[in-house]
Amino acid sequence: TYVIGSPCIDVKDRACVEECPVDCIYEGNRSLYIHPDECVDCGACEPVCPVEAIYYEDDLPGELQPFLADNAAFFEDTLPGQAEPLGSPGGAAPLGVVPTDTPLVAQWPRQDA
Ligand code: F3S
Ligand code: F3S
Repeated sequence: TYVIGSPCIDVKDRACVEECPVDCIYEGNRSLYIHPDECVDCGACEPVCPVEAIYYEDDLPGELQPFLADNAAFFEDTLPGQAEPLGSPGGAAPLGVVPTDTPLVAQWPRQDA
C-alpha cells in the first residue's frame, strides 16, 4: 500500500484524491488516510502531492514509518466520535469528511502557518 505521512497534516491539498482510480484516499479532520486494503498500488497519487506526504510503504522515511500502521488504524480502530470502525467503505467520495482523526494525528502539533 501507499501511505500518507505527517506532511499532510493541516495541509490537506487533496490533489491526490483527484488522481486515485479507486477512491481509497479518505479525509479526516486534519489529514487524509489511504485505505491499505483498497489501495491497488497504482502510485498515481505520490507525485502530485505538493508536500511529498505520500510514499510506498517500503520507501517510507524512518520518521514516517509510524504512519503505515496509523493509516490502517483510521479504518480498523474505533476513533473518537465514532460508534464503530470505518472498515472498508469501498469509496471515499460518498463519506465526505470523516470528522475524526487517529490519536497520532490528533495530537500532532499544528503545522498550518
Ligand atoms: Fe495530503 Fe498531499 Fe494528498 S497534502 S491531501 S497527501 S496531495
Ligand atoms: Fe490510489 Fe495512490 Fe493507491 S492513487 S490506488 S492511493 S497508490
